[in-house]
Amino acid sequence: MRIDRFLSNLPQFSRQHVRLLLIEKRIRVDGQVICDPHHEIRTFSRIELDDGVLQDGKPARYFMLHKPQGCVSATRDPEHPTVLDLLDEPDKHELHIAGRLDFNTSGLMLITNDGQWSRRLTQPQTKLPKVYYVETEHIIGPEYIDQFRQGIYFAYENLTTLPAELELLGPCSARLSIVEGRYHQVKRMFGYFDNKVIRLHRESIGPLALDSLLAPGAWRPLSDQEIQLF
Ligand code: URA
Repeated sequence: MRIDRFLSNLPQFSRQHVRLLLIEKRIRVDGQVICDPHHEIRTFSRIELDDGVLQDGKPARYFMLHKPQGCVSATRDPEHPTVLDLLDEPDKHELHIAGRLDFNTSGLMLITNDGQWSRRLTQPQTKLPKVYYVETEHIIGPEYIDQFRQGIYFAYENLTTLPAELELLGPCSARLSIVEGRYHQVKRMFGYFDNKVIRLHRESIGPLALDSLLAPGAWRPLSDQEIQLF
């Protein structure tokens, strides 16, 4: 949101008043004097007028977690442990998950309190490749490669999946890259061939791969460089 818009939304300031505050250099965003009414601010920006605080600006938080099998990617669940239970962080209710995984899927999970950031990551237009290691009950034939590239028709949603890249690794194992996140997408794609997925592990989301030093259930904050990737 623009700073002039943020200020004029506050009940105490008229538009004229806002213009003056900016010209008079009385507004600071994250410690810096701002005169440009177009300056973009975020939920996490600290905004001050003279010596008073207009918006506190909580720090944005970003984590990578190695989701183990047998836990729910939700913030709360009455029956099972959730990925948030694994995270030893204050104010966990402020955090949310960017891109869920099924109960028995393991792998890279991103958790944040920055809604803009997670939206960029998960919105369909972004078409970020998500890479999965897959093991199946039956042999994965070479015909899967072309079929996944052409797309699989999902009757429930009445759509055909976008081209996906399949790399065969062994008779019953493969690496699949998809750019969407439909419900049970990978399992349903293999289901087209009546081949049950028995192990599913997300290795990466876009340019960010799961840190190989993170054991299942372990987590760490993202570095600034990793945050800037999205
Ligand atoms: N596709 C699935 O079927 N399950 C997941 O957890 C992720 C992608």
